[in-house]
Amino acid sequence: MSFPAGFVWGAATSAYQIEGAWNEDGRGRSVWDDFVRRPYRVVDGSNGDTACDHYHRMPEDVDLMRSLGIGAYRFSVAWPRVMPSGREPVNSLGLDFYDRLVDRLVEAGIQPYATLNHWDLPAALEADGGWTDRATVGAFVEFAGQLFDRLGDRVAAWITHNEPWCQAFLGHATGHHAPGRCDMSAAYQVAHHLLLSHGAAVQAFRSSGAVGQIGIALNPQCYIAATDAPADLAARERIWANSVDLFLGPITRGAYPDELIEWIGPHRPDVRDGDLETIRQPIDFLGVNYYTAERISYDVDGSLLKARSEPYSDPGWGRTTMDWGIAPSGFTSVLVEITERYPGLPIVITENGCATDDQPGAGGTCDDGERIAYLRAHLLALRAAIDLGIDVRGYFVWSLLDNFEWAWGFTKQFGLFAIEAGTCRRLAKASASWYSAVARTNRLPGD
Ligand code: FCB
Repeated sequence: MSFPAGFVWGAATSAYQIEGAWNEDGRGRSVWDDFVRRPYRVVDGSNGDTACDHYHRMPEDVDLMRSLGIGAYRFSVAWPRVMPSGREPVNSLGLDFYDRLVDRLVEAGIQPYATLNHWDLPAALEADGGWTDRATVGAFVEFAGQLFDRLGDRVAAWITHNEPWCQAFLGHATGHHAPGRCDMSAAYQVAHHLLLSHGAAVQAFRSSGAVGQIGIALNPQCYIAATDAPADLAARERIWANSVDLFLGPITRGAYPDELIEWIGPHRPDVRDGDLETIRQPIDFLGVNYYTAERISYDVDGSLLKARSEPYSDPGWGRTTMDWGIAPSGFTSVLVEITERYPGLPIVITENGCATDDQPGAGGTCDDGERIAYLRAHLLALRAAIDLGIDVRGYFVWSLLDNFEWAWGFTKQFGLFAIEAGTCRRLAKASASWYSAVARTNRLPGD
């Protein structure tokens, strides 16, 4: 059960979830710094002020990655660390941190994969409307340009935005995530501005002389119609349109999905002349973050999309502690569906993993057999997709470290390494050595 030669094995994190040092070295505030201070927004009342203290332990964390033998590391750059107000001037101490991280990764033989926007918009930009404001597009391109200039000679791959669906809808329609707005029209406008800034950043990247590749990371899950009834099939198609084609339609065809735009009626975004041409830029890869599957049915009382979603697990599998279904089969099928609908897009799995109830035992061990079972089954499903001819170039496990899981605070553990409370000491779980064997041998142990 080996993988193609040159397949990239990595681990992923994001800035707000691990860095801490929220008010050090000139870092500005992000929407998450403000959101976590509002009552009842994070279930355990925690925040990312310290998180995994990665800002201070970065060399040690790169050593962990080296000990794993992974070939790549996906991190995100905190925009307010680099540009505290969201625009120039640049905070050189902030940019220096990422410069040191990238140097250290390269020295360790680990390819840097850098995400530009993993949800931490500078609070100063939010005050002017944030992603609902068209001016934020220009600010993002300024920020991206600074990074291409400084790190573009060493970063192997760039991801413009992480999960624009979550930023648009969880951030602006349901209010579960920062900035916590509840306005459906704002959500679609944000989706459009994220796409526009993606396209403009890709253009800036192409003319920057940077050496790496560029793409975007979406979160298509496997959507299964609850029955063959036309209403359920149509509801399932609306969920696909709203989660995937809302983004890949403009990126690959230069067009939004017509039926969806008609369905959402007054919530449709303001799209100006030339926007779709800007968005439709060739990308080098599509990042796919896959976790779960959902059964979709028509629901007359449902949300705007009149669709209801329930967790689905493959037979024999339960749910993760996120209450997400576990569906390795869905991993294969979503990759096939993407390739059928958008042929020619190379895929990188930019996130996959699970939250389990890990209890570090005596002597610093942590036997997270459930994580190993999840990862193993998903890698078999990935291998099945590759056998079907799907062009998958790499895989990043979410996550290197247990970290601040957004509105779930520290109640959910996704890491290969646990973080000891109080000391922030890193403890390798059993999954770390299992994954290390995968990365080193390019095959699944025991197969
Ligand atoms: C994804 C996010 C990532 C992490 C995982 C569990 O949606 O990109 O930051 O929260 O889910």
